[in-house]
Amino acid sequence: MKLRELQDEVLKLKKETNTAILAHSYQAREIVEIADYSGDSYKLSVDAKGLCQNNILLCGVHFMAETAKMLSPQKHVYLANRLATCPMAEQMDADIISQLKEKEPDRAVVAYINTTASLKAVCDVCVTSSSAVKIVSAMKNEKILFIPDCNLGEFVRKSVSGKDIKLLQGGCPVHASVTAAEVRKAKELHPNALVLVHPECKPAVTELADFAGSTSGIMNFAKKSDAKSFIIGTEISIAEHLQYECPDKQFYPLSKKLICPNMKITTLVDVYNTLMAIKNGGDAFEILMSDDEISASRRCIDEMIRLGG
Ligand code: 13P
Ligand code: SF4
Repeated sequence: MKLRELQDEVLKLKKETNTAILAHSYQAREIVEIADYSGDSYKLSVDAKGLCQNNILLCGVHFMAETAKMLSPQKHVYLANRLATCPMAEQMDADIISQLKEKEPDRAVVAYINTTASLKAVCDVCVTSSSAVKIVSAMKNEKILFIPDCNLGEFVRKSVSGKDIKLLQGGCPVHASVTAAEVRKAKELHPNALVLVHPECKPAVTELADFAGSTSGIMNFAKKSDAKSFIIGTEISIAEHLQYECPDKQFYPLSKKLICPNMKITTLVDVYNTLMAIKNGGDAFEILMSDDEISASRRCIDEMIRLGG
């Protein structure tokens, strides 16, 4: 079967099974093309609310499917590949965060959305990379504990004044692997290109960039800019999507290390197999959460949408 034929089968099955496909922008091109909604973590959270289909198929990592389930508890939510987990989401323990809260009750806990549902349940508000600065600025609390990504936390600290922001050592192994030396090398190779990086990169990397912002922030910047070439410091799919969407511009990945194995484990075949399993009652990976789990963890996602909208 050819790729286009498989995509057509997926489009047919999507309708037959009344399924909405949500794909994070780090998914491969052939998956983004057949998705009903694609975008960064914030956009997917907003899109997951109020869908009319009975089933949601998430192409991304586990915490994203969990978030979709929290926002649409009455729907069946599936993850296209059960092995797709984000290592950052598992880095911090809910008991340790609860103990820190007991010691400093006036310090609000801000959790990056890349966290498990059990961790979200002990936090005050969630943020994504595109909403973090806006939400932390809008919070009444002066004292903040930002978890788990200390690079994004440092980026927020520099962008927001008048807050005491405490960080813990966590982060994205993919973005944090990029070095300042790689930025200098890429600039030497493409001296006219602007450097656009994700704030999950180390401060030494973001400091050398022309722009630091979320996945959608980078895409919007590149599309609107008059510049013709860009070095892209985030997951490699973004350079690929931009190249398709802006054929008159050139996009260079900042580093060959910017490939997230967890995002890239999902294939179009997984999407097809999951839809077939939904249709025939087979073995699809459904996200199951109790009502108590949903209400405990959803609170800080609702707060994120309230403050970030
Ligand atoms: P955003 O989608 O918020 O840009 O986050 C990037 C990321 O690493 C998702 O896992
Ligand atoms: Fe997690 Fe980083 Fe992969 Fe995003 S890019 S899913 S934060 S490991």
